[in-house]
Amino acid sequence: MSAPRSDALVFFGASGDLVYKKIFPALYALARRGRLDLPVIGVARSDWTLEQFRARARESIERHGRLDDAAFARLSERLRYVQGEYGDPATFETLRKALGSATRPLYYLAIPPSLFASVVEGLGRSSGAQNARVVVEKPFGRDLSSAQELNATLHRVFDESAIFRIDHYLGKEPVQNILLFRFANAFLEPIWNRRYVASVQITMAESFDVQGRGRFYEEAGAIRDVIQNHMLQVVGFLAMEPPATTYHESIRDEQVKVFRTIRPLRPEDLVRGQYRGYRKEVGVAPDSTVETCAAVRLHIDSWRWDGVPFFIRAGKCLATTTTEVLVTLCRPPLSKLCPGETNYFRFRLSPDVTIAVGARVKRPGEEMDTEPTELRVVHHPDGEEMDAYERLIGDAMEGDATLFAREDAVEAAWAIVQPILGSRTPVHEYECGSWGPREADALTAGVGGWHTPAAG
Ligand code: BG6
Repeated sequence: MSAPRSDALVFFGASGDLVYKKIFPALYALARRGRLDLPVIGVARSDWTLEQFRARARESIERHGRLDDAAFARLSERLRYVQGEYGDPATFETLRKALGSATRPLYYLAIPPSLFASVVEGLGRSSGAQNARVVVEKPFGRDLSSAQELNATLHRVFDESAIFRIDHYLGKEPVQNILLFRFANAFLEPIWNRRYVASVQITMAESFDVQGRGRFYEEAGAIRDVIQNHMLQVVGFLAMEPPATTYHESIRDEQVKVFRTIRPLRPEDLVRGQYRGYRKEVGVAPDSTVETCAAVRLHIDSWRWDGVPFFIRAGKCLATTTTEVLVTLCRPPLSKLCPGETNYFRFRLSPDVTIAVGARVKRPGEEMDTEPTELRVVHHPDGEEMDAYERLIGDAMEGDATLFAREDAVEAAWAIVQPILGSRTPVHEYECGSWGPREADALTAGVGGWHTPAAG
């Protein structure tokens, strides 16, 4: 595929949190690798000078890690700043001028979805959308119908092929590795199905609280924040059929096919929890019933996965910070040789990256007995690897949408969680530092309980 490269980057919401925490470090990394040879324009309502904008970029990068002055200079000299209201046509006129001779800009909407319409319409009216691409951040809607409305808003001005919906999990090396590991190893495919796999568990544990994002969390909750998107993307890579290698939409086609075979969740497949103290967070209602942890059981109605439960447990203020996948295999027939669920594949996605195979070996001694062991490959990132945002911004600039969520996949993912959104199921309190509400144990009772990953 050879799409023309974007020739300018424009960030709406340039004075916000996301640009500060994720986007400046990604731009700096691109500059360091010599890949940032285009103007970078920040647009925001804050009344800043260009120097203030540059100072903010420097501060963000210094916080993130070491700053090399020469590389920073390469980013800094590219920066421009446009101040204005998103509903004001003058903002878009100023932006057009700042774009100069650029004709194929990439617009990044690092703004709340409620502002998407103003920006998209502003771009449409000022003919800034011609030959342009647009990157949109999650949350992509708050349910199926609002996601459909957002899609309609974007489509009024942009073609689907120009829309790049970021789910930064898709930009992570170890997440992509799930897909590659599955399809680049001949030994896996024969057993990667209902005949050999007993259950799959994905844990996304965070030991920290909502970190000042109480107001956002009240609108989101764990299901909207990470399950509808990051966690389902991981399920998609674990469960999809082999993509064809001959056309580039194939991975996204397989992704959406899996989502469509996942049954919409029922209340009995869900346990919601809230950490003790959440209701005292700034921006949180004193009687809030929003979940900070959710455990779900998914059923995939496909030839490959029928009857194999996929569990997800994700939450804040849990015992440790890690993301891990455990694919447990069925026991071999002679259960004396293999007591317990000790044949498995374990993918640790963060903080360190591990692929492990759980196996049994002979216990040394006279007895013909076995003990569990793990064959393990641990990857130590060398600091030179691309972070998810660097990877995804680079891909969007090149017009490669493979690792971005397509409209149909986003809507199919909402359809899965739609029946359990809101507070129609009870929310159970749990202690910070625990593994969430004990009520969740019932979900995995039939498969030997929840997997508890080692501390990060
Ligand atoms: C974000 C969520 O999308 O992902 C956060 O809004 C969460 O609540 C974060 O903490 C986790 O991302 P990562 O890359 O740190 O695993």
